[in-house]
Amino acid sequence: MQEQIRNVNTLEELQTLYASVFGKNGTMTIRLKEMKNLDNEQRAALNLENTALREAFKNRQIEIENAVMMAGLEKQKLDMTLNPESENFGTLHPLTCSLADISYILESFGYELRTGPEIEDDWHNFTALNTPSYHPARDMQDTFFLPNDNVMRTQTSAIQIRSMDESKGPIKMFGIGATYRKEMDATHSPMFHQIEGLNIGKNITMSDLIADIRVFLQKFFNLDNVELRIRPSYFPFTEPGIEIDMKWHGDKWLEIMGAGMVHPNVLRNCNINPDEYQGYAFGFGWDRLAMLKYGFDDIRKFYDGDIRWLKMAGK
Ligand code: DAH
Repeated sequence: MQEQIRNVNTLEELQTLYASVFGKNGTMTIRLKEMKNLDNEQRAALNLENTALREAFKNRQIEIENAVMMAGLEKQKLDMTLNPESENFGTLHPLTCSLADISYILESFGYELRTGPEIEDDWHNFTALNTPSYHPARDMQDTFFLPNDNVMRTQTSAIQIRSMDESKGPIKMFGIGATYRKEMDATHSPMFHQIEGLNIGKNITMSDLIADIRVFLQKFFNLDNVELRIRPSYFPFTEPGIEIDMKWHGDKWLEIMGAGMVHPNVLRNCNINPDEYQGYAFGFGWDRLAMLKYGFDDIRKFYDGDIRWLKMAGK
């Protein structure tokens, strides 16, 4: 009988066999009914047989149930060769990616990251930068004015001043952050971002500035070489001031940044002796650089939340 139980392969067959043994007229049922006619030894043997058979049925039932379950799982097995359904994975914002690149490069040159408040006072945003209240250059920055002589920071140059307030030199810093001006078109957003650099020390010259900017641009745009054009320019906080253009795709000159040697008045405003220390500063649009890198023609794409644009950089 044990052998027979082991050979059964379905639950239905097992049930039929079980009924033939333990059912109303089952072989075992009948034998158990006749037990009273047996001697003690025979009774004990029958009891053992009875228990062993029940156990055998139970075990076979578990085995068959497991086999059925495994066969089911086998059928559901994942087909790893199927293409997965496309998922919407999150990506980093292109500005975040380009900031990571910019920071990595500038830090490798020894510039340390500094920040400052977006609501800035008149002193840090203008006056200390050699742009007192009567200065016509203030007109160039369409400023959002706030009460108590505060403004929405129009330029990260304010972070230069904050760094010089903290340290009397030498200083090698870069500042990043949001800046605000009342302008709005494809290349201007009322909120945009700037990166500022400052290097104050002894015997620092314009060639140091140009060398750093050249390597910076090569690394940022992954180019073997960049062609630069240096034009004289005017900023109240530099003397001399320059603008740096870069040759783009072999034919166009693009204005990349403003820069210059820090004006002695700016150093004096921060209690740094211009006879002891000199240095250069530079400032550029972080969004603008990212637009060039990712081929965006409209700055507003960075801010409108359309994930198709935002995915371009994060891949
Ligand atoms: N702050 C200037 C602007 O927003 C950019 C700039 C020019 C920054 C010359 C500098 C600099 O540090 O030396 O247009």
